[in-house]
Amino acid sequence: MKKRAILSIVAASAMVVGLAACSSGDSGSGDGGEGEGGLIGVAMPTKSSERWINDGDAVKSQLEEAGYEVDLQYAEDDIPVQVSQIENMITKGAVALIVASIDGTTLTNVLADAEAADIPVIAYDRLLRDTTAVSYYATFDNFLVGQQQAWTVTNGLGLTELDGTPIDGAPAGPFNVELFAGSLDDNNAFFFFDGAMDVLQPFIDAGTIVIPSGQTDIEQVATLRWDGETAQSRMEDILTSEYSGDVRVNGILSPYDGISRGIISALEGSGYTVGAEWPVISGQDAELDSVKAIVAGEQYGTIFKDTRDLAAKAVEMTTAVLAGEEPEVNNTEDYDNGEFVVPSFLLEPSIVVKDNIQEQLVDTGYWTADEIGL
Ligand code: GAL
Repeated sequence: MKKRAILSIVAASAMVVGLAACSSGDSGSGDGGEGEGGLIGVAMPTKSSERWINDGDAVKSQLEEAGYEVDLQYAEDDIPVQVSQIENMITKGAVALIVASIDGTTLTNVLADAEAADIPVIAYDRLLRDTTAVSYYATFDNFLVGQQQAWTVTNGLGLTELDGTPIDGAPAGPFNVELFAGSLDDNNAFFFFDGAMDVLQPFIDAGTIVIPSGQTDIEQVATLRWDGETAQSRMEDILTSEYSGDVRVNGILSPYDGISRGIISALEGSGYTVGAEWPVISGQDAELDSVKAIVAGEQYGTIFKDTRDLAAKAVEMTTAVLAGEEPEVNNTEDYDNGEFVVPSFLLEPSIVVKDNIQEQLVDTGYWTADEIGL
């Protein structure tokens, strides 16, 4: 392929993904051929969750459009596997790394190798902690995600609008709510939980919301590896010990769709029926099965974080760094990784409930009406 043709493809793809720098991908010294920008290693945590598959596919295709070769690896939530995958990428001569970690604190050594080899590292969605090797962080506004998860619950209970605005004449409650958080080795889990508690605490203080299990600390409500079955068994335990007779759970704060599905299974197993005092349940990621669960009335809402936009942002950061440019960031305060505050770009999440599935997920091309079964 002629260089001019490649440049026009690069420019066109840059426009498609909204890249700021049209020279993106033209950082290699080669004169033609696919992947002329060099090899980029993309490390993803697991294929067991659909979202990471979408993320990986989007990052790979966008990097390829920008003229790079891509080594995309999934570690199935096995930390040593992720370490060795990244080591391999370095050995193979990767010019940059995009990393969504399993445990953000476990990559310090391998990332030091990347740093020693002058390989820039972009943290993808999850912060890389305890390292100076990370150049930039592409993610969503994780505190806002947590607030939106709580607003999903308060909206379903009739207490607020979806944006948190109090509803006049809202019921006084008390509503029985249980809390779930994500994996403590994922920095995001703390942002989600803090954001959610920022919304829920005033209702708890006012007695509108009560937590019958008494479990309100993140350590008590966390879910290792965001695992649905772990969440299911905790929910089963809580239902057995705290809820009997007329005492029903009215709302459940869930930080992720896979956890919500575990919670739904626990409720079904304990005799709860959709439509008959079924609790309000939040989520995150707009995974297809959970969007279907929203249509079916099992889950009240989810948080939509468009993986295509996150991929575009990470690709934009990577190509800018490789071109010796400074990528655009919009947060230089909140993401201290234990070594320094990592310059970050936070995208804006949104809440999906039954009424806006069409607008949020179908009109944007994220899922088709057929896939959802609309
Ligand atoms: C978090 C991510 C969430 C969700 C969760 C479980 O790090 O921000 O969107 O995917 O992991 O995979």
